[in-house]
Amino acid sequence: MSARTCLTIVLAAGEGTRMRSSRPKVLHAIGGRPLVAHVMAAVRETAGAAAVVIGPGQDKVAAAVAAAMPAAKIFLQAERRGTAHAVLAARDAIALGADDILVVFADTPLVRPRTLARLREPLAQGQAVAVLGFRPADPAGYGRLIMEGDRLIAIREHKDASAAERAIPLCNAGLMALRGDAALAILDRIGDQNAKREFYLTDAVAVARQMGLDAAAIETEEDEVRGINSQGQLAEAEAVLQRRLRDAALEAGVNMVAPETVHLAADTKLGRDVVIEPFVVFGPGVVVEDGAVIRSFSHLEGAHVGQGTTIGPYARLRPGARLGANVRIGNFVEVKESVIADGARANHLSYIGDTTVGAGANIGAGTITCNYDGTAKHRTEIGEGAFIGSNSALVAPVKVGDRAYVGSGSVITREVPADALAIGRSRQVVKEGWVTRLRSLTSAGTKKPK
Ligand code: UD1
Ligand code: CA
Repeated sequence: MSARTCLTIVLAAGEGTRMRSSRPKVLHAIGGRPLVAHVMAAVRETAGAAAVVIGPGQDKVAAAVAAAMPAAKIFLQAERRGTAHAVLAARDAIALGADDILVVFADTPLVRPRTLARLREPLAQGQAVAVLGFRPADPAGYGRLIMEGDRLIAIREHKDASAAERAIPLCNAGLMALRGDAALAILDRIGDQNAKREFYLTDAVAVARQMGLDAAAIETEEDEVRGINSQGQLAEAEAVLQRRLRDAALEAGVNMVAPETVHLAADTKLGRDVVIEPFVVFGPGVVVEDGAVIRSFSHLEGAHVGQGTTIGPYARLRPGARLGANVRIGNFVEVKESVIADGARANHLSYIGDTTVGAGANIGAGTITCNYDGTAKHRTEIGEGAFIGSNSALVAPVKVGDRAYVGSGSVITREVPADALAIGRSRQVVKEGWVTRLRSLTSAGTKKPK
């Protein structure tokens, strides 16, 4: 890329009524990340300043932008009057005089950074406007690019297009680059004489031509510029993203025999020789180190899985689960906000919450940490090499020392010192011959024996 400076304007205003949702459109997520955050991630890589235009009351959109790119400036479009009107909400940022102005839509999350860079290239070659085009399977609804040779003459919105214009297969993806020294002059000349009485950004092309300036189009494939206006389109974009994420994981040396059944998050980090069995779901914030095995039907979110550790089948790792190396988490085990040190095991049917488990400890089947007393959460500490017998309840706050044993079926409410055995259950009673006495008494019509 040249040394030209760039300002990217991200249009994020509007509720997206076709989503039929109370959430602003650009906060819907694919790969566990809001649409606007995907766009901000691509923008961040083009290494320029960013301005984001939001609508009234969209504080949550502003917060998502700040989380994805703290340096981005937020501008308010008080009234929804069209895409050119929205761009002009960021007038103060445009007036700072960047060489290139890029306009992208926050509802178009799959765009790649290198396409943003490609869109700027015609500006360096003297074009005033560059538009990203594509050939959708179904062009209905999109603006059409009207070309004369390789010159872009105008963009016609679907609603305003003649039958002949609607037959044009090349459509407007919505992304546009404007030369900074001409941008405000072009944008200020755009009017609202059209079917929707809106200020169309697409009119920048015809206006530039009237000013004696040139415009060009470059093309990309449909998957990259899918705009999201409905839940159906959100699901289609998710499918495209999942394909990309799986391909990248396979390329990086992850083993998946049925990648199409594995659901990844945009930020999932997988080491080499990681094995992911069919039907695994990754929520946001998961790191899996080299050689770990994630077995079928496991669900992970906000979790760290150490080297050589095995999870599942049917394991659930919730936020704050931090597993060391060679840990074993088996079927129907749930781990939340807990550190499990190297070599520790919880193989069956457990809840481990707000707990530290020492290296090599063994958590028996059915062990539950009772971390919640109805008001507050409390911590459980299990020492190195400790052995918790099956079906025990550890009532937090509580500590089990290093190498200590807890007898099966115990309810542990007080500290168990290192190397001790604790048994907290009622003593077993055996009544010899009781059943024989029962039979003879019932046949005589009397009550149960004592
Ligand atoms: C737009 C293009 C169309 C293109 C299509 C590609 C215009 C006039 N039309 O149509 O040529 O084929 O995208 O997907 O540009 N927005 C605001 N404020 C507004 C209006 C829109 O911030 O006043 C934002 C929206 O949040 C959205 C983006 O701009 O992120 C695009 O607006 P939308 O109404 O979805 O445009 P389309 O009808 O899809
Ligand atoms: Ca759209």
